[in-house]
Amino acid sequence: MDIIRNCREMQLRAESIRQEGRRIAFVPTMGYLHEGHLNLMREAKKLADELVVSIFVNPTQFGPGEDYEKYPRDFERDEALAKQEGVDIIFYPSVDDMYPPGYQTYVTVEEVTRNLCGMSRPVHFRGVATVCTKLFNIVKPHTAVFGKKDYQQLVTIRRMTADLNMDMEIVGVDITRESDGIAMSSRNAYLKQEEREAALSLSRGLKIAKKLYDDGERGASVIIRAVREYIESHEGTDIDYVKICDAETLEDVETLERESVIALAVRVGLPRLIDNHVFGEPLIIP
Ligand code: PAF
Repeated sequence: MDIIRNCREMQLRAESIRQEGRRIAFVPTMGYLHEGHLNLMREAKKLADELVVSIFVNPTQFGPGEDYEKYPRDFERDEALAKQEGVDIIFYPSVDDMYPPGYQTYVTVEEVTRNLCGMSRPVHFRGVATVCTKLFNIVKPHTAVFGKKDYQQLVTIRRMTADLNMDMEIVGVDITRESDGIAMSSRNAYLKQEEREAALSLSRGLKIAKKLYDDGERGASVIIRAVREYIESHEGTDIDYVKICDAETLEDVETLERESVIALAVRVGLPRLIDNHVFGEPLIIP
């Protein structure tokens, strides 16, 4: 496994892989790898000849007062885990190489970034779209793999790559959950033991939503109310949003007619946790 720290070097390496006729699969990450990331790597490995994983805590997707400085980092551990998964190249650039002095170009995806996390994190998706565009230009992947936990991120990246004619495939991989049902996230590291019961209210809330839907309920406000009440009954939860949206446009829906997603963001102690469920798809939660 090689570690490449320089953007130009990564670009030249990607070009030579492509010239050999080999396919590149790419998993972008911010490091502090967990089982969810490793699952993305396993899926990506099946799709190409060379697997590139980037580790870069991207400053432009954090707003003022968010956890950029505190975001957990452990490169040595990440390196060992990536090696075990058969990663071919870790791309590990510095902030200065990605955003040198004078940097001033950003990518904005409009409508799908307005709702949900876009409401309380106004610069987040601009940062994600910008860094992913840069990473795609540097790593030149044929396929990039993203987790469905960050559902709005996946929709945004799909929209962006289609709108900008980026010649690559975007693959979404199902949410990986801890054994108790909490969706895996690097930010779970912030959870104190006594906060786990409250954190579990997200995945259990999704189960309530699924049951109502499976029993025939199609009114978004009825489902949202039931989920909110359940989450709020747990001490230490502070709901940012519970919303039901069209699965593609991410606009709020009143009635679940087309494919719809329920998305949650809840602060539990320090971390703001997110989770979601696309109605009609399986939801495996203990
Ligand atoms: O999902 C993440 O970890 C990040 O948003 C990503 C896609 C690596 C961009 O920084």
